[in-house]
Amino acid sequence: MSAQHANQVVGIIGGGQLAQMLARAGKDLGARCIVLDPNPDSCARSDAELIVAPYTDADALADLAARCDVVTYEFENVPARVTDALAGRVAVCPNPQALRVAQDRLNERTMFADLGIGTPVYRTVDSIADLIDALDQIGAPALLKARTLGYDGKGQVLVSDIDHAEDSWNTLGKVPAILDAFVSFARELSIVAARSAAGQIEFYPLSENVHRGGILRVSKAPARGVSGQLEAQAREAATSILEHLNYVGVLAVEFFQIGAGDDAHLVANEIAPRVHNTGHWTIEGAQTSQFANHMRSAMGLELGPTTATGHSAMVNIIGDEPRPGALQAVPQAHVHMYGKSSRPGRKIGHVTLNAPTTTELDALLERFTRVVG
Ligand SMILES: Nc1ncnc2c1ncn2[C@@H]1O[C@H](COP(=O)(O)OP(=O)(O)O)[C@@H](O)[C@H]1O
Ligand SMILES: [Mg+2]
Repeated sequence: MSAQHANQVVGIIGGGQLAQMLARAGKDLGARCIVLDPNPDSCARSDAELIVAPYTDADALADLAARCDVVTYEFENVPARVTDALAGRVAVCPNPQALRVAQDRLNERTMFADLGIGTPVYRTVDSIADLIDALDQIGAPALLKARTLGYDGKGQVLVSDIDHAEDSWNTLGKVPAILDAFVSFARELSIVAARSAAGQIEFYPLSENVHRGGILRVSKAPARGVSGQLEAQAREAATSILEHLNYVGVLAVEFFQIGAGDDAHLVANEIAPRVHNTGHWTIEGAQTSQFANHMRSAMGLELGPTTATGHSAMVNIIGDEPRPGALQAVPQAHVHMYGKSSRPGRKIGHVTLNAPTTTELDALLERFTRVVG
């Protein structure tokens, strides 16, 4: 590491588990992190200095800008007022344009179309009349998704048939939305990629992801049975997005795989302009973790190699703490508890299992699932 990169101070907007893991990776690189979050109990305080203030607090932002070499973020709903306040005072990465795209599902889908990336069939919905038209065109069931502020399946309503249009519109809260055709996907895959300030791009192998109730439960990587053509499709999509946005940092693209075998292809659902839950396995399962590569790119460093070191499965711990000792019962489990209190549907930790072969990994995962329940 050259002298100019030593002792860097990196600001992070948001103090959840992603900031916590970024700050840990930062320490390994000799950097110090300062996190801004309105919650004094933010879990990232375990590994970073915390500024407790609303995100839009002008004094707090001025303080952050003055004390940091670069500012990044752990969630995409950073208000534009925040990046506007930081602009010109401190480098912000990924850049605010990436936020503008990722904050609004319609912007995201428009960008995909502009870049020739396939998506589920969808329509823009701004009124109940739009919703009825869209259901006529797309058919039901379909997913009504708020354009902004959705995560972990929140801000979405499944419209079972046209008779439920009005209920669904009311349940969503009559907010600007898109209607997504319900995709009968073969599976969900994601790619986590990174781009450095110098334009170097690296990809992690695809991850296969299982969601229930809109929340990620398990990711396995490298995803199995991925043809060279499917991998190339994901990499091309990620590359065109990274270059289009002149992006610096880690980015994830979530896909649905349609069909199987030689007929398989991907459609893109959404992007995350940040480190991603489907990349947590990289901490133990890749030569350089997504957190280290995000920090490296923010700090102006070359990216580290993204090769998987074996086969990994990441299991989210959601809602309640498992009974004492359960997570530790499988000796090979790497346990990450974030220090967050229990709440239904809340991600409070994750566990990564690694093995040299898929057979051994599946046996470990089976054992872990049996113990943890
Ligand atoms: N058009 C769709 N067809 C089928 N399932 C979908 C569709 N859109 C989303 N889902 C399911 O819901 C999950 C969450 O939706 P997503 O659009 O990724 O929103 P978010 O992750 O922001 O909550 C997806 O991972 C997938 O399992
Ligand atoms: Mg998603």
